Amino acid sequence: MRIVLTGATGKVGSRVSRRLLGQGHSVVALVRRDEAAQEVRRLGAEPALGDLRQPETLRSVVARAEAVLHFAAFFRGATEAEARAVNLDGTVALARACVAAGVPRLLFASTTMVYGPPRERPAREDDPVAPTGVYPASKAEAEHVLLAVPGLVVHVLRLAFVYGDGDSHLAEALPFWRKMEAGERIQLVHHADVAQAFVRALGEPGARTGRIYNVADDAPTTVGEILQTLGEEPSPEAAAPAGAWGAIADTTRIRAELNFRPSIPTLWAAREAGAL
Ligand SMILES: NC(=O)c1ccc[n+]([C@@H]2O[C@H](COP(=O)([O-])OP(=O)(O)OC[C@H]3O[C@@H](n4cnc5c(N)ncnc54)[C@H](OP(=O)(O)O)[C@@H]3O)[C@@H](O)[C@H]2O)c1
Repeated sequence: MRIVLTGATGKVGSRVSRRLLGQGHSVVALVRRDEAAQEVRRLGAEPALGDLRQPETLRSVVARAEAVLHFAAFFRGATEAEARAVNLDGTVALARACVAAGVPRLLFASTTMVYGPPRERPAREDDPVAPTGVYPASKAEAEHVLLAVPGLVVHVLRLAFVYGDGDSHLAEALPFWRKMEAGERIQLVHHADVAQAFVRALGEPGARTGRIYNVADDAPTTVGEILQTLGEEPSPEAAAPAGAWGAIADTTRIRAELNFRPSIPTLWAAREAGAL
């Protein structure tokens, strides 16, 4: 399949690209710079220059795509204006380019952070979203707009915290883990299973349009276990969980509809498989 992918230089997009190429798909990667073009060429993808903030560059990039996988985003360190310009306006521009170029479907990488504060049970896809913060708010708005674009089949994949495959993401978030209670639980998903989810969504015949799927592994991990994995001991006085269902999303739908089964079901499994 000819797939156009945005965000191929990022943590998630680079690893999904590698796996798609390994499965024999052809990948065209939207890149903003010549150095990035070389980087994606080394992966085996074909670079196409463009920028989500320059809508006029996008139509030729997506031309002839059988599907667009949209990972590009601006969130770490972005101001509200920057986050909205890329994550919302850029996403809308990409969807318009897809419609104009006759691309049949788009898969959007979103986040389980759109659910916001803890609720009485794990968050389900049809629950109202309540994002707190600029980044999840821009993602939630983009989802809402995308799902109403006529002539384009859109699937939204809401990802838990992504890790593994040599990604330093867990370690980069150390200051964040250190501030949390050791017993608080976080939902993770390994890069291998993000790729699995997107591949399964691609294989979806399209009968169900506008589907949203939570994508996470099988067992929420405690912050204490994450700290231990990173070689730190949690502080003994910080042990009480803040809320049983905080940041936990229900994965029943993706299991039932796409037959998704995490190949790396827990952080422990990743540790034991040498897949961190
Ligand atoms: N990582 C996670 O734990 C996680 C969890 C939930 C959801 N997600 C979602 O997964 C996606 C990928 O996340 P990530 O962690 O891989 O992010 P990342 O490492 O920060 O990568 C962001 C990518 O977006 C590209 N980009 C930024 N602004 C752009 C623009 N104006 N035009 C074109 N491309 C642009 C960057 O390209 P340059 O190299 O040119 O800067 C880079 O390839 C995001 O949509 C995010 O919301 C990630």
